Amino acid sequence: EKGGYKHFMQKEIFEQPRAITDTVRGHIDLDRDKLVFEEFPLTKKAFKKIEKIWIVACGTSYHASLVGKYMIEKMALVPVEVDLASEFRYREPLINQKMLLVVISQSGETADTLAALREGKKRGAKTLGICNVLGSTLPRECDYVIYTHAGPEIGVASTKAFTTQLAILYLLSLYFAKLNGKLTEIRTFLEDMLRLPHQIEIILKGAEVVEKLAPQYGNAHNFLYLGRGIYYPIAMEGALKLKEISYIHAEAYAAGEMKHGPIALIDENMPVVALVPKGETYPKMLSNIEEVICRQGKLIALTEKNCKEIGEKANEVIYIPSSNPFLKTILFTIPLQLFAYYMAVFKGTDVDQPRNLAKSVTVE
Ligand code: F6R
Repeated sequence: EKGGYKHFMQKEIFEQPRAITDTVRGHIDLDRDKLVFEEFPLTKKAFKKIEKIWIVACGTSYHASLVGKYMIEKMALVPVEVDLASEFRYREPLINQKMLLVVISQSGETADTLAALREGKKRGAKTLGICNVLGSTLPRECDYVIYTHAGPEIGVASTKAFTTQLAILYLLSLYFAKLNGKLTEIRTFLEDMLRLPHQIEIILKGAEVVEKLAPQYGNAHNFLYLGRGIYYPIAMEGALKLKEISYIHAEAYAAGEMKHGPIALIDENMPVVALVPKGETYPKMLSNIEEVICRQGKLIALTEKNCKEIGEKANEVIYIPSSNPFLKTILFTIPLQLFAYYMAVFKGTDVDQPRNLAKSVTVE
């Protein structure tokens, strides 16, 4: 049932090109340069009335929510607030009938997420679920549902559910941007999306570049993950993956925060994983990297071709294919999943069933 793979997690990482293709297929009509969201029909007028969007989730789905905030605010220019479900439900959130509550859950059964959904409904918000499991509780209770078509996710560590959530959030951001009159030309964005599965395949074909890092770094006790902007939540997701399956402590920081504290931790025993895409934040990340290197920190950098400076500075470099900044978040995720996976295999932990964790957390 693992189709020749050693673990479900490995199989699910390698299934991502197909999972994303299946998830976006029904939403893209390239002949008419159109996005289709039949399950969430919205008129321009109705969209204009939405004062604010909330996104609520737990764990990996929460990281997807944070990426979603960057996408929606940047493309559609609507304010988005993101909350952990377990915080939202107890903090008397200022949400009302003029707002949209988006609830994200792979399983559709996470107790805190369901409680947050009920809290939002009680306060009058319209609700949209993004879910991977048909017939689970979440879609039954939301006004609207968009499914990710990742297929069953068995490994406890979420992989393909996360990247398919990002794919939906990307298309949803374009949909909102269009409704809000902020996007005239959509075709390139859609073409970028359709190119993505093949780009993921290219990364997966080069998986041994990541695999060979495991024996080199497998004995470290702490890792720091750095990113900026929309890549900061990707750093958070990378750190979570490493923690949960390899039991190595890892922390993610917005790289600009380094100087406000965590820089004190850096020495030759604390490897740093840095996400260094081309674009606005590139020079800033370069200077953060300098700070790591001059403190003898070991640096694993994820970057793009033509970023020569990084190649010369980092101990290890992993190259990511290019796309628009929103979709690159998906591409940067893949090596981080692989890294956590190979580190766990190196350490001999139970990859698919890490200690103390359950696939769906139905307790509060
Ligand atoms: C991490 C992981 C968890 C889940 C979280 C929410 O790899 O799988 O953090 O993301 O428990 O689960 P769902 O998305 O099912 O609500």
